[in-house]
Amino acid sequence: MQSFLKTGKIGNNDGKKPSTSKDKPKKPAPSPPWVEKYRPRTVEDVVEQGEVVEVLRQSMSGGDFPNLLFYGPPGTGKTSTILAAARQLFGSMYKDRILELNASDERGIQVIREKVKSFAQLTAGDKRPDGKPCPPFKIIILDEADSMTGKAQSALRRTMEKASHSTRFCLICNYVSRIIEPLTSRCTKFRFKPLGQEKIIERLESICNAEDVKADKYVLTKLVDASGGDLRRAITSLQSVTRLKGVGIEITLDDVLEVTGVIPDRWINKLLEVCEGKDYNNVTNFIDDFLLEGYGTGQVIEQLSERIIFSDDLTDKQKAIIGEKLGVCSFRLLEGGSEYIQLLDLCITIMQVNQQN
Ligand SMILES: Nc1ncnc2c1ncn2[C@@H]1O[C@H](COP(=O)(O)OP(=O)(O)O)[C@@H](O)[C@H]1O
Ligand SMILES: [Mg+2]
Repeated sequence: MQSFLKTGKIGNNDGKKPSTSKDKPKKPAPSPPWVEKYRPRTVEDVVEQGEVVEVLRQSMSGGDFPNLLFYGPPGTGKTSTILAAARQLFGSMYKDRILELNASDERGIQVIREKVKSFAQLTAGDKRPDGKPCPPFKIIILDEADSMTGKAQSALRRTMEKASHSTRFCLICNYVSRIIEPLTSRCTKFRFKPLGQEKIIERLESICNAEDVKADKYVLTKLVDASGGDLRRAITSLQSVTRLKGVGIEITLDDVLEVTGVIPDRWINKLLEVCEGKDYNNVTNFIDDFLLEGYGTGQVIEQLSERIIFSDDLTDKQKAIIGEKLGVCSFRLLEGGSEYIQLLDLCITIMQVNQQN
């Protein structure tokens, strides 16, 4: 399972060359993004998606597979899985055989048509450099397929059918409900689940070992909490914290909070405390101080909603009123509403709910 670590050695430039006083201080070579460096190389390396991997392996056993539709939340291994599958099918020729497109690209469907035409001219009996037969098709990976309009999706359906002898499609999206039925019915569907906390921590620990990063399990847990089952986010945050601290220095909880933008509990406690009083001035003063720290209101809403749901001090009715306001404020923020006003509205609602107690 840990074989990805073997590949993790590339670019691990830790400056072993003996340095002389004449040597100019050299900047360390920029390290590649860890999400790329530690991307699973084979489908067996993909963690937590056992059923997907099993079915995919079976369909690949004959050297071919159907059109695929991968869906699920970000950072759960969709892109990695298709890239790993392609690598296993095509060996070292895989770079020539796949085309990654972002479906939200305006010219998307036109590019696909042109590419498909050139794919169709492939010779069928290709051999891989290692002597194994190379399947006579190419793969088009269409990321963010759910951002395509219905019209573009219909056009894709025809292209998909016409190209079936030379091309396999792998559509990737977050929301399968946004893909039209004629497309979903032409693909084998695979659902990617959010990764469990334990698995993410395991993965981060392996990376820490490989990169000589020192971090307590408790600190990693906090980092994983902030990433919501998204391994990409967790790995990126880990790399950012390491850049901040430097290799070999113990990462602390404060570093993690700094990088992930998670608000320390003391601020959330303070917010709830001022909302228990009756003084509006306290609330506005608090909001001023809070926003000066540079924390985002969207993040407050996320952390508060967890607090409210699990609170023992509030009745269900109170939770419902605050919960609704959290939803409304979150929506308004997305629409471009002012952070200050939304936070004020939220605090005043909590204050009123407390006073009805
Ligand atoms: N199931 C998984 N197993 C192993 N690594 C994963 C998995 N999911 C995500 N990752 C890691 O997170 C990064 C992003 O994964 P990716 O496959 O691009 O996610 P998605 O396409 O679902 O958004 C990868 O580089 C990989 O390191
Ligand atoms: Mg992806």
